[in-house]
Parts: sequence; structure tokens; C-alpha cells
Amino acid sequence: WMSFEDDVEAILDLKQKRNAVILAHNYQTPEIFHGVADIVGDSLALARRAIEVEADVIVLAGVHFMAETAKLLNPNKTVLIPDMGAGCSLADSITPEDVALLRKAHPGVPVITYVNTSAAVKAASDICCTSGNAKQVVESLGVPRVLMIPDEYLARNVARETDVEVLAWHGHCEVHELFTADDVRQLRENHPGVTVLAHPECPPDVVAAADFAGSTAVMSDFVGQQRPARVVLLTECSMSDNVSVHHPDVEFIRPCNLCPHMKRITLKNIRTALQENRHEVTVDPAIAVAARRAVERMLAI
Ligand code: 13P
Ligand code: SF4
Repeated sequence: WMSFEDDVEAILDLKQKRNAVILAHNYQTPEIFHGVADIVGDSLALARRAIEVEADVIVLAGVHFMAETAKLLNPNKTVLIPDMGAGCSLADSITPEDVALLRKAHPGVPVITYVNTSAAVKAASDICCTSGNAKQVVESLGVPRVLMIPDEYLARNVARETDVEVLAWHGHCEVHELFTADDVRQLRENHPGVTVLAHPECPPDVVAAADFAGSTAVMSDFVGQQRPARVVLLTECSMSDNVSVHHPDVEFIRPCNLCPHMKRITLKNIRTALQENRHEVTVDPAIAVAARRAVERMLAI
């Protein structure tokens, strides 16, 4: 406990000295989420709020694509990620060359890129989306067919909700692909009356078996507004930890999966990041212009 408090205090002090803010994703551990973060949220909220930041330094407590997005929106600020190895199986599933091949195979079909991608893949696409606005982005384009990359399950889950044809890639989130429809059946059997919320990165049969699906922020809002007696969040483990703090009256059932990338971020390496100004996230200027356009087009919706 000593060192935990010591790190929190040091980080709060360093934030002031360096005029820095910490943006933390909903999957960060409670001591980061509740202890040192200035701005928390889902991927969409972190991108939106990144535009408003006035500090000189942004520490992104999350994974690399989130830090890149923050940098795209703040080209003149220093953006740090405490561990460069915090990647994402979705971002790793596709390259700009893959996108070029897809465009050749589907001429004229717009490419919607999930934010869980590298800046180079974003630059090769027309517009970005997150799990919080995917359906809206698809429908905003006013076309009969779109490509939605790289998450196959997100694309198929969105396809169920719209008349637009959604062509998919074969990327998966290594955390959410582990949930099965059988898990949902067993949860309902073992915990009568449980409300099941699923992230749209889960396989479509899991989302179909759940009561409700949405981004991490949407799941959190659902619990706050509906106040289910017992709930399970089919997503990364820290979600329930963070959300349950505000809802002591709600029983959280916790089968969950850890994201090893999100868990690379710790109080210790956030402290070091601020002390030693590392690791700085940069985006090749040639890529940044087109990638920023795709993100800004999304934010304008
Ligand atoms: P959201 O917070 O946008 O729902 O994204 C979930 C996720 O897996 C981010 O890595
Ligand atoms: Fe990527 Fe899945 Fe981890 Fe999110 S939870 S960072 S989508 S691997």
C-alpha cells in the first residue's frame, strides 16, 4: 500500500509540474482509473475529449492506437504511452496493403476503419468508427454497401442492425472472441434474473444471446440508468471493477477476460513516463494528414 500511495502522489505532482493530463480507457485498473486519470471513457469519448485538452503533455493510459489517435488530434502536443508494447490484436490484424487489396476487390465501396487500427490503416480508409457509433457511421454514408474493417464480429453485429450491406475483414479481439453463447446460457442458469451486457466485439451469437450490446461507455451508462439487480458485463475484467464502484447496490457477476495489452499500463510506468518523458508517440506526417481526416470525419457526425 505504501508504494501504491507513493506512486499516486508522485503522479499527481508530476502532472502539475509538467502540465500533463492522463487519459484512461475504461479497461484500466481502478487505481489508474479512479486514482490518477483526468479523463476516462470509451474509445469514442477519449478521441472526442482529446480535442479539448489544453495541457502540454497527454499520457495515454490505454493501448497504442489510442495514443496515436490522441496524437493525430494534437499534433503539437507531447503524447506519451507508458509501454510501447501495449498493442491490440485487432490493430495487428490488418495492414495498409490489405486495405489496398480490399479496395481493388470492391471498387467504389467506402472503407470504414474501426479506431482499433494503426494510423497507417486509418490513412488508407475513408472514415473511422468506434463501437459507440458504428451503425451511425455506416448509415451516414448513404450507400448500399460498405467495408468495415478489421473486426469481423463488430461488422456482423452492425450488419444485423442496418439495411446497408456490411462487408467484413477477419480480425478479432483476443479478449472478446473468447465469450461463447454457452457462457450466456450458463450465466442465466446459475444467476437467475441476471442482465447480460455484451461488447459488440463479441461473436454475433453472444450478442444475440445477451440482453443488450454496446461500447464500454454505453454498458456503463446502461447500469447507471437501468440499475439492474444483477448484471454481467461480457468484456474486459477492469470494466466491472470500475463501474461497480459507483453502484454498490448492483450485484456484478464476474466472468471476464483480461486484455494483456491494457494491463501493461501500471502506476509505476505512468510515473516513469512523466518523469522521463517516455515513450513519445509520433505519427509520420505523410500518414497523419489522411489518418486525421478519417478520424475528424467520424467526429463530425
Ligand atoms: P470501447 O471502449 O470503444 O467500447 O472499445 C473497447 C475496446 O476494446 C478498446 O480496446
Ligand atoms: Fe484490442 Fe481487445 Fe485489448 Fe481492446 S480489449 S485493446 S480490442 S485486444
